[in-house]
Amino acid sequence: MASIANLRAREILDSRGNPTVEVDVILDDGARGRGIVPSGASTGKAEALELRDGDPKRYHGRGVLKAIENVEQVIAPAVRGMDANEQEALDARLCELDGTENKSRLGANALLGVSLAAARAAAASAGVPLFRYLGGEEAVDLPVPMVNIASGGLHGGGNIDFQDFQAIPLRAERFSEALHDVVLIYRAMKDVLKARGAYSAGVADEGGYAPRLKSNEAGFEVMVEAFERAGFAPGKDAAIAVDVAASHFYRNGRYQLSTEREEWSSADLVERLAGWAERYPILSIEDGVAEDDYEGWKLLTGRLSKRCQLIGDDVFVTNLRRLAEGIRDGIANAVLVKMNQIGTLSETLEVIRLAQRSGYRTVVSARSGETEDDSMSDLAVGARAGQLKVGAITRSERLAKYNRLLRIEERLGDRAVYRGAQVFSAFER
Ligand code: PGA
Ligand code: ZN
Repeated sequence: MASIANLRAREILDSRGNPTVEVDVILDDGARGRGIVPSGASTGKAEALELRDGDPKRYHGRGVLKAIENVEQVIAPAVRGMDANEQEALDARLCELDGTENKSRLGANALLGVSLAAARAAAASAGVPLFRYLGGEEAVDLPVPMVNIASGGLHGGGNIDFQDFQAIPLRAERFSEALHDVVLIYRAMKDVLKARGAYSAGVADEGGYAPRLKSNEAGFEVMVEAFERAGFAPGKDAAIAVDVAASHFYRNGRYQLSTEREEWSSADLVERLAGWAERYPILSIEDGVAEDDYEGWKLLTGRLSKRCQLIGDDVFVTNLRRLAEGIRDGIANAVLVKMNQIGTLSETLEVIRLAQRSGYRTVVSARSGETEDDSMSDLAVGARAGQLKVGAITRSERLAKYNRLLRIEERLGDRAVYRGAQVFSAFER
């Protein structure tokens, strides 16, 4: 028994300088755990609610003092004395205290801070690292990273519509080698963009470049050029993962491409994506169509699911019911996993387990607004998620996650498993 003695919560700042929730859980035996909550910009409509104060006098209304108060005044008295080892009971209690479908009373940010901090405290009390606390002795698989190289959309100043151009390293046999390889690709991209006159100084929200490109397709071209320049055979040594984030340019049933100055139907968009998947080494497409375009999702999945990983982010929002519906309807073949989209660790683990039972791949993901919290790296290993998406290889809120995995790899030593390209071996290419 590791009883919860107290909770402390405070307002701190995330990587965009926005307030966020940090919670400390203190156990009877003196063990402590901390959880810090990230924040998205390109959010799905059905995400659990991030409670913000709305007080224009503080942080343009983005303060989180109400969420802090909810932790200390509402949650703390209700969970004091509970066993931190009983994560599911604790998370069920948090959901019950909130009492709403989308965690709008206490805030998903309040709930997740407590949920994460309790898991960390329980692991500390047991004297084991978080990944082992979550996954036991079998948790030895390091995830394959899909690493942001260039950004558009809401993360990259809107130069192009598509949000994320990422590299999947395929040559590496260890996680640390994979990271080494993407650093070479990242560096090569700077030269590629400069040569095209598309480079702009500074980085996007996830640490990648924010290039001035003339079309969305140019994003795929520069990725291939960066692979080649860095000495990686496109499609063999490295592949492209794109987050189209299509919900954000979907209006009135049409896709409004501002780069192309064109309006596409879902069939148009799916055909373009299929054409690009023929011509470029694209192995993974996230939110290829919008969250509300369910017919588009069926079209996309029918057209490309044998060839590409098709990840649902906005459409599933790490929500068990939504994922179950998607599986039933044959939509996508992978799910993005963001703890703050749903608000508790247990519900996140349930989503990963359902996906795994159903043959859907899982990608544990950061948000565009992040912090030094690195628990998602432990989650990826502990739940044997297989893949990780946490942004570029610059900016320390991103490196916190990659560096944590380097430490886990070192700790596991000979027992570490890295499946690398095997994760994608089922796709016909
Ligand atoms: P967000 O974006 O964190 O801004 O929501 C990440 C994503 O769309 O995958
Ligand atoms: Zn996304």
